[in-house]
Amino acid sequence: MRLKGKTAVVTGAGGRIGLAICSRLAAEGAAVVCADLSSENAEKAAATIRSVGGRALPCRMDVTRSEEVRLMAETALRNFGSVEILINNAGGSAGLFHQLSRFENTTEEIWRRIIDLNLNGTLSCIHALLKQMIQRRYGKIINMSSVAAEKGLFDRVDYAAAKGGILSLTRALALEVGQYNINVNCISPGMITGQTAIPHRGTWLGRSGEPREIAALAAFLASDDSSFITGENHTIDGGRVLGVHTHSRNEKQISAINSIQPEKKQ
Ligand SMILES: NC(=O)c1ccc[n+]([C@@H]2O[C@H](COP(=O)([O-])OP(=O)(O)OC[C@H]3O[C@@H](n4cnc5c(N)ncnc54)[C@H](O)[C@@H]3O)[C@@H](O)[C@H]2O)c1
Repeated sequence: MRLKGKTAVVTGAGGRIGLAICSRLAAEGAAVVCADLSSENAEKAAATIRSVGGRALPCRMDVTRSEEVRLMAETALRNFGSVEILINNAGGSAGLFHQLSRFENTTEEIWRRIIDLNLNGTLSCIHALLKQMIQRRYGKIINMSSVAAEKGLFDRVDYAAAKGGILSLTRALALEVGQYNINVNCISPGMITGQTAIPHRGTWLGRSGEPREIAALAAFLASDDSSFITGENHTIDGGRVLGVHTHSRNEKQISAINSIQPEKKQ
């Protein structure tokens, strides 16, 4: 119960990762404002928490509309008095609306939409809740980036740019608000599939990640167990950023290499 007495706002609450984060934070004792563009998803997240005795408030809101973000913050503060934890999880690529493409074929409308959803949405939610964190001299802000921020991602130039912006804002904000005991961190997932992992050769663990694994990291960063960590990017990708499998060799191949490389004794 590391988060007992704390209130968390989670955006994109009813999606794959959002739902797992909401459940984990609630299981650790937090009251959770389940904010989502889809009222059905917001309700689903809140109902999941309540079904096991947790405290939750569903909130339909669009992170790209600052007025709705402001209303969400007001509702959270009216209901719970304070918000100590903000998880900026809402986001996604043009795949959300079936418009993935090479940059040469994309449109300004699409890339503005992706930047708005990921980067401006994150900035908006932070702006709406930061002052009350500063007043209370306490806060945990956790932003959802992606391995795309550091490594790029094919057919998702706009998404990679937006996630890179999230990574940069995390570092810059950590500089400003550390003096108020506010930690700002970034989570950069690799490929996270549905509730169970699937075999995946692109990682050194041989599988995709599960939402509960992101949720465990989010709960750690939201708790005081991570009190001296700020401005960091936390990659969680099964070792994918270490590189692809082109250099993996089996024992037979290793023996063959050893046999043609005479031992050099110095
Ligand atoms: N799944 C992955 O492999 C992966 C990898 C790296 C990063 N991420 C990031 O993790 C986060 C969650 O990803 P996911 O796979 O759970 O996504 P998802 O598509 O399963 O869920 C996204 C949720 O956000 C909500 N949403 C969409 N637009 C919104 C808006 N404008 N305002 C508020 N809510 C909105 C949706 O209704 C949905 O409930 C995203 O930021 C994503 O970019 C995911």
